Amino acid sequence: MWWYLLACELALGAPLVMAALWAVQHVPRWEWTSSTVLLTGGSAGIGLSTAEALARKRVPYLVLAARREAVLQEAVQQVKGVIAQCGSPTRVSYIVMDVSDEASVATGVAQATVQCDGHRINLLICNAGFAYPARFVDSTMQNARQMMEVNYFGCLNVVWKVLPDMLSAKRGRVVFTSSMVARAPIAGYTLYSATKAGLRAFAHSLDMENSCLGVRVQVVSPPDVETPGYAHENEVKSPECAAISAFGGATPFSSAAMAEAIVRGIEDYTFDITLGSDGALLNYGCAGIEPATSVCALLVQCTIAGLLRLGLAVLSKLHYGIVKRVRVTNVSAEARKAEKRD
Ligand SMILES: NC(=O)c1ccc[n+]([C@@H]2O[C@H](COP(=O)([O-])OP(=O)(O)OC[C@H]3O[C@@H](n4cnc5c(N)ncnc54)[C@H](OP(=O)(O)O)[C@@H]3O)[C@@H](O)[C@H]2O)c1
Ligand SMILES: *[C@@H]1O[C@H](CO)[C@@H](O)[C@H](O)[C@H]1NC(C)=O
Repeated sequence: MWWYLLACELALGAPLVMAALWAVQHVPRWEWTSSTVLLTGGSAGIGLSTAEALARKRVPYLVLAARREAVLQEAVQQVKGVIAQCGSPTRVSYIVMDVSDEASVATGVAQATVQCDGHRINLLICNAGFAYPARFVDSTMQNARQMMEVNYFGCLNVVWKVLPDMLSAKRGRVVFTSSMVARAPIAGYTLYSATKAGLRAFAHSLDMENSCLGVRVQVVSPPDVETPGYAHENEVKSPECAAISAFGGATPFSSAAMAEAIVRGIEDYTFDITLGSDGALLNYGCAGIEPATSVCALLVQCTIAGLLRLGLAVLSKLHYGIVKRVRVTNVSAEARKAEKRD
């Protein structure tokens, strides 16, 4: 009997394993010792923690970009502290650059190359971005456009300036900070989700277009991470958005933990770099179309995909429920307030 079961197992399992072995892409480990890095949004939050993690990886050149010079100068000092602590050879500098301004990006990228002794950037991390998580009805076209200008077009601006050099060197890596809401949008991140979903689709296509020439592209899908930007968001966050974020007692991750995951995900390429169980659930539930890089993960993902879809459906229904509870309460409270005023 046992040999019959074994034969069935093999008949079913072997083609699956062979398909997975074939489908998986092998991306060489990223070499830190020859990295010239440009990191946008490198003066605060996830970007600053990533800069510290890169210094610990001993990259030779690291350029931080952002708009406020004083904040950049402080960030450089902080990274220099890490460099001194671990005797890293990293040379860290900064450029003042607004990613949403084409001219500013052109000068900034040229300046960055000079600061790196003429070495071309081979690791670009497009991390600058922000969210305005108010309700759609309470937002304006200006809010929508500003977010697109920075989160989406801001990335394109920089990539256009850096990618040609990577292609001629036949080596490069581009990392975009997207968000978990790109695939699991939630109320309140209504305008923001669209900017990050666009970025994710762009990144995927860009990877397919350039991977055969040695340039790989990946995204970061952070969950809630404790940063100055996150604190600022909470000031305009709609109550239902806040309720979803806090669902199940979830608390924000530290930017240091996010940075460690980013550096690990660059070293051992995964298309999506995330942190925490919700991110893992999303990656497992949506696996397949994006480049797979582990046979084991791919096999687990495709054999339990059906059940995970059920899990995601439950999560989505719960989110709709939270919005209904919070928003209906909010609307009636507002109505009572209005009655009192009359
Ligand atoms: N924190 C989270 O929970 C979370 C979750 C999902 C996704 N994300 C994404 O992760 C990225 C980093 O978020 P964070 O929370 O670390 O943000 P943060 O604390 O607000 O820091 C943002 C950084 O980007 C820079 N920046 C903003 N606008 C810029 C522009 N137009 N040009 C150049 N630099 C600009 C800021 O410096 P200046 O203001 O001086 O320019 C700062 O260095 C963003 O793309 C965000 O959407 C964050
Ligand atoms: C209802 O939600 C709006 C929008 O976020 C908020 O400004 C307002 O304070 C809320 N009202 C109550 C009574 O909670």
